[in-house]
Amino acid sequence: MAAAALLALLGLAAAAAARQWVATPDTVRPRVTQEQLLWVSGRALGAVDTFRVPLLAATGRGTLLAFAEARKRSAADAGAKFIACRRSVDGGATWSPTRFIADDGAAGDGLSLGAAVVAGAEVLLLYALCAHRAACGPPSTMLLRSRDDGRSWGAPRNLSDQVGTAVFAPGPGYGIQQREPARGRLVVCGHGSLERDGVSCLLSDDGGRSWRRGGALRGIPFGAPKRPFDFTPDECQPYELPDGSLVINIRNQNFYHCRCRMVARSWDGGQSLPPEAVTFDPALVDPAVAASALVTAGLVFFSNPAHESQRVNLTLRWSFTNGTTWWGRGLQVWAGPSGYSTLAALPPEAQGDAPSLYVIYEKGRSQYTESISVAKISIFDDL
Ligand SMILES: *[C@@H]1O[C@H](CO)[C@@H](O)[C@H](O)[C@H]1NC(C)=O
Ligand SMILES: *[C@@H]1O[C@H](CO)[C@@H](O)[C@H](O)[C@H]1NC(C)=O
Ligand SMILES: *[C@@H]1O[C@H](CO)[C@@H](O)[C@H](O)[C@H]1NC(C)=O
Repeated sequence: MAAAALLALLGLAAAAAARQWVATPDTVRPRVTQEQLLWVSGRALGAVDTFRVPLLAATGRGTLLAFAEARKRSAADAGAKFIACRRSVDGGATWSPTRFIADDGAAGDGLSLGAAVVAGAEVLLLYALCAHRAACGPPSTMLLRSRDDGRSWGAPRNLSDQVGTAVFAPGPGYGIQQREPARGRLVVCGHGSLERDGVSCLLSDDGGRSWRRGGALRGIPFGAPKRPFDFTPDECQPYELPDGSLVINIRNQNFYHCRCRMVARSWDGGQSLPPEAVTFDPALVDPAVAASALVTAGLVFFSNPAHESQRVNLTLRWSFTNGTTWWGRGLQVWAGPSGYSTLAALPPEAQGDAPSLYVIYEKGRSQYTESISVAKISIFDDL
């Protein structure tokens, strides 16, 4: 009897294994299955002038957390802001009301988002204060922590005692928890001030308690104002390949070499970003904007407004080759004005299925600052 039950179980397991979804050009046909606006600018919600810089995180419990800058008085990058947060526990079908989880008061140069990091059972959110150094200071790197899956957040902690007060504007996007070679290490990459610019990473080997500065890829000329076509690595998103190496997909602020994305690599968990490993990806045409990149199901996904000068044409691309080549022409998510974006993935709803992909992005009809939208994308369209 026990043996028969065991055999039946083995049979079920074999059937499940046979149905296992594997990413191939035939099984990857992404399509938007659901989309909704999470925030609308124009003083409709809490008198917030403009919502910008959306982030999205998928927690270990399958919860989606969306964040955005809520710019209180104008659309300008500096100025006073809240951090807005909404939460979904049903795969993005419904969302909690907006909560403001940080408030910089009436600061002339307030907070800048930011990077969300899922670190085991905790969620961390890094942001900057005074990143534009507009009559404030010193610039500070701040951390919010949630221990209850994003329901509540502790008081902001100032990390600048540990990492210094040079401008560090995280992301925008997400930080990663490394699998290899530095298992469990948190890696958050960001950029500096415009004059010093360049990308650098903050590292934590104890779950976000202590932080230190890792590798940096500096702008040239360093510490001096930049001109068109100078080497100016800016907003960035790291991801980890199967062998544990890191790829950092970077905004090429001054169009050095191309109107396309800059790519840096690290083989030591963000400790160094060797300049000799920097490449440019002509397939990823970009107007100089914060874009997103994510690894799931053995694929690399990339989202940006795919246009060489305007923030329009929000496009999702995918790669079967670790991001070295991109399949076809991608999926156009929104033809009109579109700006910053962040990707996130939830594990498959049923074992053996494809994961669900989400892109949160700045979206509008005449301007990309009009609203923040989240689209759910089915990777395998089997209709
Ligand atoms: C954060 O810490 C740094 C270094 O101690 C300090 O200079 C800065 O004023 C602090 N920032 C805030 C907002 O408290
Ligand atoms: C992707 O990179 C991994 C190592 O990280 C390697 O084993 C694999 O062969 C690569 N895949 C392709 C298609 O290049
Ligand atoms: C949108 O992006 C796709 C993918 O790069 C490209 O083929 C297409 O020409 C773009 N459309 C516009 C209007 O730029």
